[in-house]
Amino acid sequence: MKIARFSRIGFILAAAGSAVGLGNIWKFPYITGENGGGAFVFVYLITVLMIGFTLMIAEMLIGYLGRSDSVSNFEKLAPRNKNLWKYGGFMSVAGLLIMIFYAPVIGWTFHFVFLSLSTLPSSVEIASEHFNTLVSMDITTQIFYHTLVFVFVTTVVTKGIKGGIEKLNFVLMPVLVVTMGGMFLYALSLSGFSKAWEFMFYPDWDKLNSAALVTAVGHAFFTLSLGMATILTYSASLPKDSNLVRSSLIVIALDTGIALVAGLTLFTFLYEYGATPSAGPGLVFISLPAVFYDMGALGHIFAFSFFVALASAGLTSAVSLVEPFIQYLVDRFGFSRLKASLSSGLFFYLFGIIAILSISKEYGAYFSFGSKSFFDWIDFITASVMLPVGGLVMSIFVGYVMEKERIASQLQRQLGRIYPLWYFSIRYIVPIALVVVILNLIGVLTL
Ligand code: PHE
Repeated sequence: MKIARFSRIGFILAAAGSAVGLGNIWKFPYITGENGGGAFVFVYLITVLMIGFTLMIAEMLIGYLGRSDSVSNFEKLAPRNKNLWKYGGFMSVAGLLIMIFYAPVIGWTFHFVFLSLSTLPSSVEIASEHFNTLVSMDITTQIFYHTLVFVFVTTVVTKGIKGGIEKLNFVLMPVLVVTMGGMFLYALSLSGFSKAWEFMFYPDWDKLNSAALVTAVGHAFFTLSLGMATILTYSASLPKDSNLVRSSLIVIALDTGIALVAGLTLFTFLYEYGATPSAGPGLVFISLPAVFYDMGALGHIFAFSFFVALASAGLTSAVSLVEPFIQYLVDRFGFSRLKASLSSGLFFYLFGIIAILSISKEYGAYFSFGSKSFFDWIDFITASVMLPVGGLVMSIFVGYVMEKERIASQLQRQLGRIYPLWYFSIRYIVPIALVVVILNLIGVLTL
């Protein structure tokens, strides 16, 4: 089946759009806050460079050489045991599963876009009550916004790589960069900035425990969209003669840059207005709206722009989460784009409603298993388990299964002198780091 390819810049924007998501603007600042700042940021940056960079090139390579959906690519590129390796493509399901909780969270950002146009909460207590009511009681509002997310994402992916995904990124990525850049410039002029800088870049090693270490590594994968066949699926539509190394570097630089800018900006605002950085998941939905209120009229403009940026970041990632499975249905089962998009969309839509119910006061008990709600289980199983496992499978595939000459002929020239280092990393550093993370997560190994 002939797929319309990305343009060169379209690919960079789409891959960066996938990488830059709720993970950068919502999650990164609050996990940095919870884990004590500097030392955590340091581990995250090292992981991005040493593991993220290596794996991103590997994932792009599988897509670029295979030119098809993830299952077919593993099958095509495995010199032997094709039937076994095609299961390497299993990770294309992970994105759909992630959407089960990712879509409701984008829904929350929609709600806050509208809220910032009316009344902002005048204190952290009120903000906290507002957010908790939304999440635990206001099922109707959540389902309403969740439905909007479903309709929006499904419409975009129905139009395909070029007419849908590339176009969306052409519009939303500049919105995101300009908004976050503008707020950052303002943050630079505030006295809280130096405190924020200190918090993020002066490591206090005592605060770095093993849990923080694993969180940092896990987050590096999540934020770069690795291990889920997203980058792989997008790379299957790269134009011919693309430079995978350069593309990886740009995507990683944009993703990391935006996370750091978001962190610095939010912490500056929090310090400036007397809030603390260690606010947890409620940081952008509770502390920040209260800070925006304190800023007066400017705060409304900032609040609106910020939540539009957050929603944009979420939406460009969302389309990349569903695309791998759609591509799979189209390539392997001959589904039309429309049918594939609708069935994938309905899947995350319906289970997303269960996720919403599972964190509500009224129905939570019916949809909780053990210590976690359905919402938290899906988050844990996908982001913490499936993604490192997906990354591990890819590193083993590229490091040990694919033909060496094929890899070298593609990457040796692009990587130049660091090619041997990259090859060493994909064979040893990445798999070992991932095994450690996985064992730690399932509780077999305590660091
Ligand atoms: N990278 C996205 C974020 O930071 C999430 C994502 C993960 C998107 C995996 C696609 C694939 O929010």
